[in-house]
Amino acid sequence: MADKGTLTKQVFTKIQDVPPQLSPKMSEQLGPAVGETTMLAVCVDDPGGPEKLYLGRVSTPQPKAGEILIKVHATALNRADLLQRKGLYPAPPGESDILGLEAAGTVAALGVGVSGQWVLGQQVMALLSGGGYAEFVSVPEELVMLIPPHLTITQAAAIPEAWLTAFQLIHLIAKVQPGETVLVHAGASGVGTAAIQLLRLTQATPVATAGTTEKLQMTKSVGAAAAFNYENEDFAEMVLEFTNGN
Ligand SMILES: NC(=O)c1ccc[n+]([C@@H]2O[C@H](COP(=O)([O-])OP(=O)(O)OC[C@H]3O[C@@H](n4cnc5c(N)ncnc54)[C@H](OP(=O)(O)O)[C@@H]3O)[C@@H](O)[C@H]2O)c1
Repeated sequence: MADKGTLTKQVFTKIQDVPPQLSPKMSEQLGPAVGETTMLAVCVDDPGGPEKLYLGRVSTPQPKAGEILIKVHATALNRADLLQRKGLYPAPPGESDILGLEAAGTVAALGVGVSGQWVLGQQVMALLSGGGYAEFVSVPEELVMLIPPHLTITQAAAIPEAWLTAFQLIHLIAKVQPGETVLVHAGASGVGTAAIQLLRLTQATPVATAGTTEKLQMTKSVGAAAAFNYENEDFAEMVLEFTNGN
């Protein structure tokens, strides 16, 4: 698989040349106030359930060379966040141990050496190694993308991790073509529901598997042409039947 920086670059060039998005409220504070060294973040000290989460104060990150400081407006929930909260998926060494693998917000400060395309106040989304559940997050610029104009900042927060994973699988790895039928396992998952919708946009036919009736319905509600319960159906046979043996 492409590394994360290459992936965002490839996807970014496919998303087109998006004009800079400036925050509608340019008067709002762009970066941490002078002398403000702490920020609010969702913290978890002991592994466990959602009751372990609390709003705490932590050091505000400073953008290192090549990094962009983002004032976070929205973030998203991924399976990995749940695993990390339970103590089963520690942050990579040297990275923030705050939860949150994707976020959208506005450019708040630029680290030394960041390229000239970034402007304070631009609306951006970013793939993170962690740290999205906080007021600010600092990210290498190659993991930052402009938000396409047709997305809200909240919608954009769900794009960099789950949706780009689905995009990578469908377009960069499988190179799915219109008219093809694609089987999406765990079709009701975050990545699965994104994949089904992207396949429809590609004029391919998504077929899904899932483990419960509710999840089967979910896959159909987002575009699956057929969905099979792998717990109690022979999905391989049923997919062959659906595709007339192809
Ligand atoms: N989210 C991301 O951004 C991301 C990025 C890179 C890779 N991935 C990978 O993509 C896959 C889906 O991730 P997701 O975040 O979309 O997951 P998710 O929303 O949490 O859904 C995971 C689904 O997997 C199925 N499943 C099968 N066996 C399971 C088990 N032992 N434990 C938990 N779930 C199980 C379940 O559906 P059924 O009941 O229908 O089986 C479940 O709904 C994972 O393998 C993940 O590592 C995700």
